[in-house]
Amino acid sequence: MTVPEFMRAKSQGRKLSVLTAYDSLWATILEESGIDAILVGDTLGMVVQGKQTTLPVTLEQIIYHGEIVARCAPKTLVIVDLPFMSYQVSSRQAVRNAGKILKETGAQAVKLEGGINQSKTISRLADCDLSVMAHVGMRPQSVHKLGKMSAIQRDAKALLADAKAAEDSGAFSVVLELVPAEIAQEVTDTLSIPTIGIGAGAGCDGQVLVTPDMFGLSGFQPKFVKKYVDLKKLAVEATKQYMTEVQEGQFPDDAHSHK
Ligand code: KIV
Ligand code: NA
Repeated sequence: MTVPEFMRAKSQGRKLSVLTAYDSLWATILEESGIDAILVGDTLGMVVQGKQTTLPVTLEQIIYHGEIVARCAPKTLVIVDLPFMSYQVSSRQAVRNAGKILKETGAQAVKLEGGINQSKTISRLADCDLSVMAHVGMRPQSVHKLGKMSAIQRDAKALLADAKAAEDSGAFSVVLELVPAEIAQEVTDTLSIPTIGIGAGAGCDGQVLVTPDMFGLSGFQPKFVKKYVDLKKLAVEATKQYMTEVQEGQFPDDAHSHK
């Protein structure tokens, strides 16, 4: 999957499926499943590092994880988040850090949070042929301004303006987070680049979920997350069974021992 193929899916009416990954185990699982794109999101801070927000994630950390994912999912489009304060200072800073991410990870694209407020930066990145995905609606890096990360964004005019600014500035796609379904549908109908929704209804051109959420590993279960399998429950059960078998001398048995 390439950036142009990802963009073409919209005109072909083919829905795009995107999931996050941060390591080789999940990069391999997602690549084998044939997912359209993998996002190395700055949710890294929450689901891998156990922090409260995405803000502490550093450029060095996202590059470390991005390189692993891009190497282990060579056929999949890999998009890496620009961390908080790695692009907001200036478009020069954004170009330098987006370039560093693409050089050092082997990923094909970056993502940043913003629309109108980042239009100059998006167009500078696009001028340098750095493929950039925008992220509008609820922007987790703005958590302290919003007061909480669950704030649904209902201002249709502002959302349309942000998404349109991202498209006009050269973004190849835009994430819509926590947007009422009717507004996300309207934005999707207005734009010619694919919209990728999270908590934004079925009208978007594609969907993204945080992988540990949909596998029941993170314990994060808001309305928009569908838990497809409860891997945490299965893993706790397997761990307990292992402990019992070790205690009772059932593991290792002959089949799992060298003679
Ligand atoms: O960091 C992330 O995982 C994201 C998705 C929720 C879109 O930005
Ligand atoms: Na993110």
